[in-house]
Amino acid sequence: MKVLIAGGAGYIGSTIASACRDTGIVPVILDSLVTGRRQFTAGRAYYQGEISDGPLVDRVFAEHPDIYAVIHCAALIVVPDSVADPIRYYRANVANSLEFAAGLLRNGCKRLIFSSSAAIYKAREDLTVDEDSPIDPQSPYARTKAVCEAMFADIAAAQPLRVLSLRYFNPIGADPKMRTGLQLRRPTHALGKMIQAQEDGVPFLITGTDWPTRDGSGIRDYIHVWDLATAHVAALTRFDALPGPVTAINLGTGAGTTVRELLDTFNRVSGRPVQAREAGRRPGDTAGAYTRTGRARQLLGWQPQYDIADGIRHSLQWSALRDDRLPDDAAP
Ligand SMILES: NC(=O)c1ccc[n+]([C@@H]2O[C@H](COP(=O)([O-])OP(=O)(O)OC[C@H]3O[C@@H](n4cnc5c(N)ncnc54)[C@H](O)[C@@H]3O)[C@@H](O)[C@H]2O)c1
Repeated sequence: MKVLIAGGAGYIGSTIASACRDTGIVPVILDSLVTGRRQFTAGRAYYQGEISDGPLVDRVFAEHPDIYAVIHCAALIVVPDSVADPIRYYRANVANSLEFAAGLLRNGCKRLIFSSSAAIYKAREDLTVDEDSPIDPQSPYARTKAVCEAMFADIAAAQPLRVLSLRYFNPIGADPKMRTGLQLRRPTHALGKMIQAQEDGVPFLITGTDWPTRDGSGIRDYIHVWDLATAHVAALTRFDALPGPVTAINLGTGAGTTVRELLDTFNRVSGRPVQAREAGRRPGDTAGAYTRTGRARQLLGWQPQYDIADGIRHSLQWSALRDDRLPDDAAP
């Protein structure tokens, strides 16, 4: 089987490409490198360019007429940037995806797996969500994901295209074989900040301690990036058995972890404890959410294999290797 991965030079897409390769599925990568890294495409069929570049998409399909499905991970993903520059985000994520969909249909592609986000949901009071929870994105970034899902559903209703939206919770970790990981030196999510605090020898800031959670800190559903990747392999295998022309599935562990709990596990796993300091909420922060459904298990036969300690261990391992693997943008 061959699969086109748009955004396959990024953190999640490159991990999906490795999981595909490990199971005999051949990945073909289309990526502009706006945030991805060329090193993550090594040894893979790779086309550099925009997903909205129709002639390039036509060339990819002409040279790989046996592409079975497309996984669409190509997007800009930084929430505060989307607040500051929504036009850039709607153009990058929505307008480009529309052109891409047209290119896929023109080339007879019938199966699309879309990287969506759990950030599109309004959580219940207990901070859980399922696939039928109300859609209520809280940032322009999250709204671009909801708009894309709706746009693909409209297209699937009129054209021979079936769409699976995989709504990711909070990915952590790296490829357990350390082929790829997070390309950023200074990631802004909680685990990235803990690693940074450890490197810099400064306290970790718990931003927000008055959320309606068991310990007041924000709660997330941390999912190992390798588990996310294997869910895509399962989705490729089961795609034609999915119930509708349009399906949405949450990819999380089903367990919420608070920031304080994450820090406790980080300190246990890393062996070099980081001090915590309490701080106020940041603008745009939310209490967070976690998934409460088993749809991924029912429809994909998938469940996560790694726990949070594994995710932290792999993130730390990758962070120590990162500058060697990505020397172009290593620390000065
Ligand atoms: N990382 C997360 O926390 C998270 C959570 C939920 C959903 N997602 C979704 O997963 C997908 C992958 O995220 P990631 O964390 O790997 O981000 P990333 O920035 O590492 O990867 C995105 C990749 O897409 C490429 N790209 C972006 N726009 C493109 C375009 N117009 N044409 C061609 N290539 C383009 C980038 O160069 C990059 O390689 C995104 O769609 C994101 O919205 C991510």
